[in-house]
Amino acid sequence: MDTRITTSAAGRAPAAPAVPVYPLSLRVNGEQHQLHVEAWVSLLDLLRDRLALTGTKKGCDQGQCGACTVLVDGKRINSCLTLALMQDGRSITTVEGLADGNALHPLQQAFVRHDAFQCGYCTPGQLCSGVGLINEGQAQDRAQVRELMSGNVCRCGAYPQIVAAMAEVMKLPDETNHHDKDDHAGARIGTVPA
Ligand code: FES
Ligand code: FES
Repeated sequence: MDTRITTSAAGRAPAAPAVPVYPLSLRVNGEQHQLHVEAWVSLLDLLRDRLALTGTKKGCDQGQCGACTVLVDGKRINSCLTLALMQDGRSITTVEGLADGNALHPLQQAFVRHDAFQCGYCTPGQLCSGVGLINEGQAQDRAQVRELMSGNVCRCGAYPQIVAAMAEVMKLPDETNHHDKDDHAGARIGTVPA
């Protein structure tokens, strides 16, 4: 029987079709959630609109800016590009979950020390991406940090400070003079440094 369209008890106006929802179990910042969500809800919208975790930002909503980056089982992903239901059973960490109580995560502390933001809109994504990059253990120098963070756009151009904060936490060799020169050269020709 087709139950999508029914009539009201009075028989006048059709009732709104039932929207199917599906069970979803997620651990978010250490807290277990049992939810029911529609199939089309992105992880980003679930976090922001249903769990009120608005630290994760919606920039482009199409995988191009990195503002929505969160960690899923420790790996960084763009939360706008995945459906919430695809992450059933996973553990999600958002920017709200990086600190240990009142103690900021070491990368958050480094961002503050290096002034690695202006408006701050990209910062939650930069932090989660940075923590994910550290977890990956791939970047061996600042150029690789630039490359592997290239999915996180900063329209304020805080890239040199972000890389400096990452380098400090990752204990990368000091290449300050060399990269200062590179960064300024990049700014002169109008490119967006990675
Ligand atoms: S909002 Fe997800 S990549 Fe831009
Ligand atoms: S600090 Fe403004 S977009 Fe990065």
